[in-house]
Amino acid sequence: MVGAGSHPRRRARGLPDRPHSRKRHHGTHAPAIEERGACTRTSGPAWQSPRRRGRDPERARLAGTGSASVATGVKVGAGITVRTVRKEDWLADTESSYDTVAASYAELVRGALDGHAYLKSALSLFADQVKACGGGLVADVGCGPGDVAARLDALGLDVLGIDLSPRMIDIARKYHPSLRFEVSSMTDMQLADGALAGVLAWQSLIHVPDEAVPAVFSRFHDAVRPGGRLQLLFHAGEGSWLKTEGYGGHPMNVRVYRRQPDQVATLLGDGGFEVQAQTILDPGGEAPQAILSALRLP
Ligand SMILES: C[S@@+](CC[C@H](N)C(=O)[O-])C[C@H]1O[C@@H](n2cnc3c(N)ncnc32)[C@H](O)[C@@H]1O
Repeated sequence: MVGAGSHPRRRARGLPDRPHSRKRHHGTHAPAIEERGACTRTSGPAWQSPRRRGRDPERARLAGTGSASVATGVKVGAGITVRTVRKEDWLADTESSYDTVAASYAELVRGALDGHAYLKSALSLFADQVKACGGGLVADVGCGPGDVAARLDALGLDVLGIDLSPRMIDIARKYHPSLRFEVSSMTDMQLADGALAGVLAWQSLIHVPDEAVPAVFSRFHDAVRPGGRLQLLFHAGEGSWLKTEGYGGHPMNVRVYRRQPDQVATLLGDGGFEVQAQTILDPGGEAPQAILSALRLP
């Protein structure tokens, strides 16, 4: 995948194309923590029919699942359904933006992970942690063209790639025909409770507005079984910018949010996750990124 250190690769990761104000982070840190959390499995089948929860209408609106939305269901296979409900403006803009750039994005990121030791080791860590907890299905949420999902598969995980952009999913299926990919938004993944052993979301939460993040973490919490793993990669910093073109000069209309790792860690804590490590990549550079590794608490 793409490193933070060179320009085409920065752009390929969705990093800013133009100057912006930003607070910098210094020092890569992976706090010495004691690994904890023997994994527990929920009883019953890994996948069940999606259930509809009673929802707070305001939260649903912010998460893009308001009453103006249209529901569709996608049957993935025996017992597996990913349900999508469409769509607030920001979600629709994100979808059409990534549909527009899907092909060029896929070309730009192809093989880019090979040169990025920290990102590769983050994937290995995630795979080791999931396996240590007994394994099971993991979701790569905002999977784009599926190269990261393919890495996870090569590391021995059972992966489902999920992305908002149908065009991205077309490409992911074409490049990685042996893997499963589905179109869905992280704001409305309808997975059975505890269906997943882990969620990995690399550079996709960056397009979710602050007010919708808690609902996304709530969905991750429901979908991941107790003791399962969550790994996030996102732009570290503050503020947001409107990305109007990218990945070879194609038009986009998508807001990109930077967040302080501590801010995200607090939201994860509120959402029932224990953040066990924070790593800052390129801490003194123009566009630092953060990796957060978390455990899903019972
Ligand atoms: C910068 S790309 C990152 C792709 C991939 N994770 C990677 O690391 O190469 C952001 C991806 O997140 C997807 N995305 C954005 N918002 C999403 C949402 N609400 N639900 C699911 N996917 C989303 C986009 O369609 C796009 O493919």
